[in-house]
Amino acid sequence: MKILSGIQPSGRLHVGNYFGAVRQFVRLQEEGNECFYFLANYHALTSLQDKAQLQELSWHLAAGYLALGIDPSRTVLFLQSDVPQVTELAWILNCVCPVTMMEKATSYKDKIARGIPPTMGLFDYPVLQAADIIIYDSDLVPVGADQKQHIEMTRDLAGRFNRAFEADVLVEPEPYIVPSVAVVAGINGQKMSASYGNAIEIFQAPKQTKKRCAAIVTDSTPLEAPKDPDRCNVFALLKLFADETELTEIAEKYRAGGYGYGQAKDRLAELINERFAPAREKYAKLEKNPNYVRDVLSEGGHKARNIAEATMQRVRDACGLVTNK
Ligand code: ADP
Ligand code: TRP
Repeated sequence: MKILSGIQPSGRLHVGNYFGAVRQFVRLQEEGNECFYFLANYHALTSLQDKAQLQELSWHLAAGYLALGIDPSRTVLFLQSDVPQVTELAWILNCVCPVTMMEKATSYKDKIARGIPPTMGLFDYPVLQAADIIIYDSDLVPVGADQKQHIEMTRDLAGRFNRAFEADVLVEPEPYIVPSVAVVAGINGQKMSASYGNAIEIFQAPKQTKKRCAAIVTDSTPLEAPKDPDRCNVFALLKLFADETELTEIAEKYRAGGYGYGQAKDRLAELINERFAPAREKYAKLEKNPNYVRDVLSEGGHKARNIAEATMQRVRDACGLVTNK
């Protein structure tokens, strides 16, 4: 199966990105699928217009992918901007895309409500995302729940293209969303996001993780009183990191009383630091070897571009953009 997904280099990787997306990226790679993962830097320009920051966050994301287990000997890892063909396909898809489809995009409404400037790029974001997916004939797109509507739009656009040009050229992909981790909550109980100030980053010093966990919002139930684990932001995160046995034990301690949120937060920080210790070590090594990361992206870009160009030849031909005289 052909798997494709991307992450924007517009923030630092956090626990929500890992459970909602990157963990599935790695699992699908381990299962022997043909995987394409990329850094959505054209998309990032819709919210981040600062050269130094975009370069720094792109490096962070590339090293993060590798440190978390993306293996460039099996998977194509690349920069979106190394495949300019996607912008060409986005234009062609724009020509079969009703304006009303984009007007219904919840991500657009959410983003403008948060103060991101309503540019044409932001409005057209889902069409470029559709091009990203379609250009590699992708079957499955692993993402968090917030991306579901974009994948539905992608299917819709592929179908509209095929019908408009009476050609069976574009594949309609399926989303791959794991329900239990579709929306990971942040330290305030809302969806964790780099841009909401509520994220716990993956690549940070253990001390910082402890500080972030200490800042998780809890109610004011006193230490002695019984507590409800199912209504606690700390416990929600513990569910991702603790094994079944420990989770049952902690839930019992909550219900019995005499167990404070502070203790739960400390244990959570320990578990997060343990879980990401190997990835952090790998990341530190990559920081000393930026040329390796650059080479991986360059090789991935080359492979991705060749596949994208072959698809574009089919697409241009189906549209009548190639003269056969
Ligand atoms: P952010 O919201 O921090 O900017 P992105 O939009 O760059 O994150 O998301 C990259 C990937 O991670 C997407 O597949 C997205 O669905 C997933 N993701 C992001 N935040 C979460 C979350 N809180 N829970 C589950 N998945 C998430
Ligand atoms: N919109 C995605 C996000 O914010 C990033 C993205 C861009 C993407 N192109 C994609 C995800 C193609 C999956 C497939 O996370």
